[in-house]
Amino acid sequence: MSMHASTQSTEPAAGAIDLRRDRASGTGVARRDRYDMATIALHWAIAILVVTLLCTGWYMVGVPKLTPARGFWYNLHKSLGIVTAGLIVILIARRSFRSAPALPATMAGWERRAAHANHLAFYVLMVLSTAAGYVTSSFSRFGPKLFGIPLPHWGWDDVAQRTQYANAHRVITWIFAVLIVVHVAAALKHLLVDRDGIVARMLPGR
Ligand code: HEM
Ligand code: HEM
Repeated sequence: MSMHASTQSTEPAAGAIDLRRDRASGTGVARRDRYDMATIALHWAIAILVVTLLCTGWYMVGVPKLTPARGFWYNLHKSLGIVTAGLIVILIARRSFRSAPALPATMAGWERRAAHANHLAFYVLMVLSTAAGYVTSSFSRFGPKLFGIPLPHWGWDDVAQRTQYANAHRVITWIFAVLIVVHVAAALKHLLVDRDGIVARMLPGR
């Protein structure tokens, strides 16, 4: 029997049941079955920024060297990357005070383990990709900049070091990109096949 069929017959989706209980309780004490607004806002802001960083990163490395266009794209990429790093720090701080809502019992053991592993990997990758990007630009004479404001250099102008960190930044961001495809595919499966309310937990709403 498909998961889809089960949501239409005797076993409604766990997420849907939980939401109804929340509203029916009338106690004002919300059950922790969805993410809070701050986490949702941070998730989507970071998601949009990370996709933008992947696109600008892949594009800018092909722009001819020492042209104004390359300078524009590199500065935009570095600035957005540093803004993303700030949001990641806030998200990690927020998540260390507030745990994620429990996954519904309808999810198989391997699915829960995969979801936890994916989310943990994202936290590690978010930190590593921004740190590697910052260090890469630190070993360049152009340095890390936030919309024109020069930030502390963690290195010096050194092409060998820069290449080494740029390679690390490339590998880390490629792993990140592959896991984003897996994450989005899993979200679409929950939305369209399982219909278990998982995606709604990460969307604004009651
Ligand atoms: C592109 C960059 C993205 C990053 C870095 C990212 C990161 C994350 C992380 C770290 C979590 C776990 C939150 C936690 O429990 O601590 C999460 C959850 C989630 N993400 Fe994303 N995400 C991205 C894109 C997307 C997209 C495009 C979608 C939808 C199509 C999506 C849908 C979700 C959903 C539904 C959850 C909640 C899963 C649950 O209820 O347990 N994410 N994401
Ligand atoms: C989540 C955060 C980030 C993502 C996903 C990301 C993504 C990328 C990608 C895909 C590339 C192209 C790699 C290649 O094909 O060679 C790139 C290059 C680069 N990124 Fe990032 N980046 C991030 C954060 C940052 C930050 C915070 C900085 C600096 C403050 C930065 C600085 C650079 C630099 C200098 C390059 C060029 C390296 C070279 O010339 O080979 N990135 N980034």
